[in-house]
Amino acid sequence: MTAEPLEIYLEERDLQRGLREDARAGLSADEKWLPPKWFYDARGSELFEAITRLPEYYPTRAERAVLAERAPDIAALTGAKTLIELGSGSSEKTRLLLDAFTRQGGLGTFVPLDVSVSALLGSTAEIAADYPELRVRGIVGDFTRQLDLLPTGGRRLVVFLGGTIGNLLPAERAEFLAEMRAALEVNDWLLLGTDLVKDPSVIVPAYDDAAGVTAEFNRNVLHVINRELGADFDPDAFEHVALWDPAHEWIEMRLRATRAMRVRVLDLTVEFAPGEDLRTEVSAKFRPAGIAAELAEADFTASEFWTDPDGLFGVTLAQAR
Ligand code: SAH
Ligand code: TRP
Repeated sequence: MTAEPLEIYLEERDLQRGLREDARAGLSADEKWLPPKWFYDARGSELFEAITRLPEYYPTRAERAVLAERAPDIAALTGAKTLIELGSGSSEKTRLLLDAFTRQGGLGTFVPLDVSVSALLGSTAEIAADYPELRVRGIVGDFTRQLDLLPTGGRRLVVFLGGTIGNLLPAERAEFLAEMRAALEVNDWLLLGTDLVKDPSVIVPAYDDAAGVTAEFNRNVLHVINRELGADFDPDAFEHVALWDPAHEWIEMRLRATRAMRVRVLDLTVEFAPGEDLRTEVSAKFRPAGIAAELAEADFTASEFWTDPDGLFGVTLAQAR
């Protein structure tokens, strides 16, 4: 079967407006920042896929190991009719779940949701071709704003993989989980992938690889702003920095100006001092008790918690109560 046309909750002009507002707020702040969803244009999505294949980037392999082992349990425990994936990207690991549901029977619809049109076009076409019995409804949308629009009908399982929840700040995360819960019915399920706290000597290289792919991914946000907003950033004049923050237990990604610069963005003139940082992303790492507590706070019961054999990455199966 071919995938249905993408359902567009976010038009190109909504994206443009959002980027404009975020660029204006973030680049005129005392401590400059940009929110992470703007990394993922077509090139950004490709660079992220390249990150997942880096030797230093353990989260994808570790999460895949958990799913490979537990997919049959997840299918049996949830008995889902509809599988919704947030921030789905290529949905490559999700195939392990689709395989288990296919063997079990009963899953009718797969709904990947992402801001990246290019990622969705590829993933929906390939999944529709490989799982002909599934209805594949790709949604272009923002999981921080549009969870109220998720499809209803039948027992639902929402999966949010890749540790992407760690890219939200703690207050945003609480709001996200509350909105997620509000969008679900009692007894619907949430499968949540979280990278775990561990020695920073393991974590930092995952965000600062030797081949420089992550650096290029980080700088891509400046290419996006140049193209979409007609700005004149010189991306190569920014150095990629990944710092472990032990107080927050998160990795903080920054772009550091290697010289003084004056950048035109919209009607702003943005001055960078040499060595000044632009914060682009955090990637929080979690502890099992913290995950269960955050889920409970949002009225979910964490019923299963699994890790890979090396204990690097956690996958929690939670139920709306
Ligand atoms: N789930 C995949 C991809 C993770 S990368 C994996 O585990 O490998 C994060 C994905 O989330 C990207 O595809 C990006 O386009 C998407 N994304 C980031 N912010 C988003 C937002 N606010 N709304 C919807 N999708 C978002
Ligand atoms: N969800 C991924 C993570 O936190 C996203 C990611 C991986 C990322 N590498 C990055 C985001 C580098 C910004 C920069 O691991």
